[in-house]
Amino acid sequence: MCGIVGYIGDKQAYPILINGLKRLEYRGYDSAGISILNKTTLKVFKKKGKVSDLDDYASKQDTKGTIGIGHTRWATHGEPNDINAHPHISMNGHFILIHNGIIENYSRLKEKLTDRGYKFVSETDTEVLANLIEYIYLKGKVTAEIAVRLALSKVVGAYGLAIICKGEPDKLIAARKGSPLVIGVGEGEYYIASDATPIVEHTKSVIYLNDDDVAILSRDGLNLKTIKNDSLTPKIQKVDLDIGEIEKNGFDHFMMKEIFEQPRSIFDTFRGRVSLEKMEIHLGGLYSVLPKLVEAKRIIIIGCGTSWHAGLVGEYLIEELARIPVEVEYASEFRYRNPIIYPDDIIIAISQSGETADTLAAIKLAKQAGATVLGICNVVGSSIPRETHAGVYTHAGPEIGVASTKAFTAQVTVLAMMAIALGHERKVLDKKDYEELIQELYAIPDKIEKILKSNNSFLKVSKKYKDATNFLYLGRGSLFPVALEGALKLKEISYIHAEGYPAAEMKHGPIALIDEKMPVVVIATKDKSYEKIVSNIQEVKARKGIVIAIVSEGDTIIKKLADHVLEIPETRDELAALLAVIPLQILSYHIAVLRNCNVDQPRNLAKSVTVE
Ligand code: AGP
Ligand code: GLU
Repeated sequence: MCGIVGYIGDKQAYPILINGLKRLEYRGYDSAGISILNKTTLKVFKKKGKVSDLDDYASKQDTKGTIGIGHTRWATHGEPNDINAHPHISMNGHFILIHNGIIENYSRLKEKLTDRGYKFVSETDTEVLANLIEYIYLKGKVTAEIAVRLALSKVVGAYGLAIICKGEPDKLIAARKGSPLVIGVGEGEYYIASDATPIVEHTKSVIYLNDDDVAILSRDGLNLKTIKNDSLTPKIQKVDLDIGEIEKNGFDHFMMKEIFEQPRSIFDTFRGRVSLEKMEIHLGGLYSVLPKLVEAKRIIIIGCGTSWHAGLVGEYLIEELARIPVEVEYASEFRYRNPIIYPDDIIIAISQSGETADTLAAIKLAKQAGATVLGICNVVGSSIPRETHAGVYTHAGPEIGVASTKAFTAQVTVLAMMAIALGHERKVLDKKDYEELIQELYAIPDKIEKILKSNNSFLKVSKKYKDATNFLYLGRGSLFPVALEGALKLKEISYIHAEGYPAAEMKHGPIALIDEKMPVVVIATKDKSYEKIVSNIQEVKARKGIVIAIVSEGDTIIKKLADHVLEIPETRDELAALLAVIPLQILSYHIAVLRNCNVDQPRNLAKSVTVE
């Protein structure tokens, strides 16, 4: 949700923290703050708005000091303003902390602390925790570390925390439960961050904290333990992340950079897994569960947002190619509706960030019920891959734009590989189709490259409809989830109301919306429902709707009917989603830019949703 950074070492903390916050701003961004400890003087800078607003304010002041913490907030308790921004100081000034997550029992704790004379200045749940730690520290006359561990044992909820105690000025304390936290290990210095992006420019050695871990960091070393005080041996890992991957590389926005990266990110996702020479697909991460997968009677796919859309494409692919029944569920609904889960069920959790709270909770539920849980994730070392029995990384590289683009196509690529491999193993996919699909998958990156060359014609259409107030997206089969994804992209970043529908469903209701002001984006590539979708286009035109059709190259029939056609190369029906989504991503990007919207950081959204 939010971004956390911390530093302890010999360097000046401020530049490290502010740059770190800029890298993390994509996670949450309604306000930001930094606190620096210089010997025993504690300075706090907090500002509503963006990290640049904080920098404008703080850089004019004395920011000297070599220990500090910083935060970009995505408000859950209390509106975004200077006071509710983190860091939060305890009432008597002994502790200052930043927090990602939610303290669910905060009101009960707040009442108890109020009874004991504590006063609160903010509306946040976080300030309650700062005061609880201080209360235990003063009342019990214990060390900061003990106070933190005891306080956390009373907390219900999720947290990633970085804490400074003024009375113990040469240490930083980090703790995690439910919200991600990574420690960067340098020479006589440590970094704390929500993910590795702010750390990699300083060090590639990291420790991923697990739930219930507490790390006490000083310039002399690191002490890792559980909140129950059991010692742990830190596992230092190398992050394989290049700084270029988290910069814009000449593009105006991360989103466009990420759209243009798709030929490479898809290739990276199947590289080493799909072999043209051997004509085989090898998913190493699923090797241990392959027999179960081949015998599966049912697969349940769970995810949220774009990852859920990828799951819907996966349903179509797995049912079509491997003939295993698939259900796709919103993770949030799945977990709360007492689902029927059998021990021989296979659950596939899809998530770009690997940190989505709803998906994580659904995974835990499925595991308790004895099912085999697999993950399809992008962020290496994140929580979901660690919670699942087996899985496949998507290798799309860091996705910074809040609107997911390359993660979607990478997820669909993994699902396609799984479906093709399973169809082959289960002997329901004949050799000719199997080999053709492998070849076609290999051809996808070049075909996307070709679509990207039409960027200018997409821009022209975007200019025409940038002021529309509603959009309808229609598709059939595996292209119906692409219609949903196109609509989600548009609403997320341009704030235009948009809906996706199966094309045939239009006549059961949404057709009432169609008039001469309504742009209808129809995915109408040459597949087995082509004739039907041509009829759907006729129905829209008969009501004077504006049709923007995504068609196969060389289509002449729809060209005569539609107001605009955007061409994409032909491919096998099973893989068409990978191509059809590209023009929709680009359309929404241009429309958002033309409407002066903040493309990479749309209002109210956060990149990884670590609250329920
Ligand atoms: C996509 O554009 C969204 N911002 C959002 O719907 C996202 O896909 C969803 O929150 C799930 O995230 P995850 O893939 O990281 O689990
Ligand atoms: N719950 C805290 C707040 O509202 C932290 C939110 C966050 O993760 O940014 O301030």
